[in-house]
Amino acid sequence: MMVCHCMGISDRDIRAAVDWMRAADPDTIITPGKIYRALGKRADCGGCMPLFLDTMSGCGTLGVPVNLRKPKRIASKEQA
Ligand code: FES
Repeated sequence: MMVCHCMGISDRDIRAAVDWMRAADPDTIITPGKIYRALGKRADCGGCMPLFLDTMSGCGTLGVPVNLRKPKRIASKEQA
């Protein structure tokens, strides 16, 4: 299914980019901007963003790594 009509990005492209980024760096935070860059494209109108985000959230490998989930304030108190 086509997600971004401006740039011709499909749901398969998005899932493949998310899986690739997670495999390349398990600690990375994956954003729509990073997916566009990974695919060599740039967002144009932004009209696809709700569907783009829904597609991303459906990827099993999208989750924020456990070590990055704590807010900075809590993490810095624990280190002190
Ligand atoms: S539809 Fe994706 S940037 Fe326009």
